[in-house]
Amino acid sequence: KKFAVFASGNGSNFQVLAEAVNNGLIEGTIELVVCDQPNAFVVQRANELHIPVFTFQAKNYPSKADFEKEIINELQQRDVDFIVLAGYMRLVGPTLLEAYSHRIVNIHPSLLPSFPGKDAVGQALKAGVKITGVTIHFVDEGMDTGPIIAQKAVEITPDDTHETLQGKIQQVEHSLYPQVVNQMIQQLDRSKKEEEQNK
Ligand code: GRF
Repeated sequence: KKFAVFASGNGSNFQVLAEAVNNGLIEGTIELVVCDQPNAFVVQRANELHIPVFTFQAKNYPSKADFEKEIINELQQRDVDFIVLAGYMRLVGPTLLEAYSHRIVNIHPSLLPSFPGKDAVGQALKAGVKITGVTIHFVDEGMDTGPIIAQKAVEITPDDTHETLQGKIQQVEHSLYPQVVNQMIQQLDRSKKEEEQNK
């Protein structure tokens, strides 16, 4: 199976996904990185790994539908089967959702539905909860909504700062995301086989 990773910033999740592809943990290939911040570190990571990157700037398009059409074109040219969001700081619009219906997943640094949106780590610290975590979910039109695929809890200890908690959460993300992406590939393979048998 072929997938694309969408990111806007650092790209540490992209990096572990690419490594998991290279060592065979993920039985698929990353065909493209899509990035809305041309100067983001993820672009450099992708270049080093020789993975093609499509960058764009939303401000250069009249609407979201316009840049999403261009993204879809890039994805279809490369036969991309599904999309993995990894720190993509934009809401996916109806154009892309329709083209990749039930084939877009996201990772979020909290136990959803708690603390959706920006700075989930800061939100959890401010709320004083003792447990937060990581959620991987299918993407729908909402902000960090959509059916949950996997979750893992992370304990918040009294000495945690934003930085240490973020570190703990990212560690969990980096082991969970490759596993779940591979499960998704197996699932897509099974559905395809069933479809063929029912023809
Ligand atoms: C992750 O914490 C992810 O949960 C959130 O954005 C962050 C991306 O980190 N959606 P990175 O760019 O993969 O390092």
